[in-house]
Amino acid sequence: MSESSEQDLATKSQKQPLLVWDLAVRLFHWLLVLLIVAAWVTAEQGPAWMDRHMQVGYAVMTLILFRLVWGFCGSEYARFSSFLAGPRRMLGYLKGLLGGQSELVIGHNPLGGWSVVAMLLMLLFQASTGLFANDDIYNEGPLTGWVSNATSGWLTGLHKLNFNLLLAIISLHIVAVLSYWVFKRDNLIKPMFTGRKWFTSAELSQHQTQNKAGRSLWWALLIVLISAGLVFWLSIQAPPFG
Ligand code: HEM
Ligand code: HEM
Repeated sequence: MSESSEQDLATKSQKQPLLVWDLAVRLFHWLLVLLIVAAWVTAEQGPAWMDRHMQVGYAVMTLILFRLVWGFCGSEYARFSSFLAGPRRMLGYLKGLLGGQSELVIGHNPLGGWSVVAMLLMLLFQASTGLFANDDIYNEGPLTGWVSNATSGWLTGLHKLNFNLLLAIISLHIVAVLSYWVFKRDNLIKPMFTGRKWFTSAELSQHQTQNKAGRSLWWALLIVLISAGLVFWLSIQAPPFG
């Protein structure tokens, strides 16, 4: 065993693992990454791939609806209440971060928490505008027939504009995660796979985690199925006339 991995083990042995990201959050995250890439690729392939693009879009919408509900009944660190901080806390955290001694955070930090909500809402907006979009050829979202041509054109424009904004916030998200790794030596990516972060007992007692277990995975599955049902219902809507 190399010296550095022995040191690694020694420090880890004084720390204990805490399950921070439940399985549902982890699956949600990595599936979302795959699906956003797929939505982008299929959108760029032109009209022949639009059907597939819309199917991927429905899957993204299902995931986002699930995550919004899970934010109220998931395990402790999946809940919005655990990571949405007020302006004073955000400012305090930012000052600490810039001063090089940020406070210990278990789940999403006060800045990251708001960016998570921003990403979720922007993704919901992306999928919702897609439902009314058209490509001026023969492809259109399932709700396009419910609005005028002009409105559909406007929403298609927003669908494209919002995607560029999404690319910007996602890039910022990835740069932030990598900066924590490089500058703070805090690897946030591994816990998004394993679910676990390591803390000393002093750190944990200072934080008084409430260990809210959250609903079981069966509940997660049920919420996914209900979300998928709702999205399927939207996908089969026929226009009111014609
Ligand atoms: C399409 C690209 C991506 C999107 C839309 C995205 C979105 C998100 C969202 C919504 C969360 C919150 C998770 C939750 O609480 O449910 C999150 C967290 C996270 N993401 Fe991503 N992500 C993307 C790409 C990536 C990539 C490429 C990485 C790795 C380099 C990454 C690493 C992380 C990490 C480490 C967290 C947890 C951050 C923390 O500890 O507060 N993400 N991401
Ligand atoms: C949330 C995930 C989605 C992402 C990331 C996404 C992304 C995109 C992007 C980048 C384009 C522009 C392609 C171009 O520049 O030509 C596009 C076009 C389009 N999208 Fe989406 N989309 C999503 C969901 C949806 C959904 C759910 C639908 C409908 C069910 C949809 C329907 C359309 C249509 C009809 C176009 C064609 C617009 C045109 O070519 O003028 N999208 N999408």
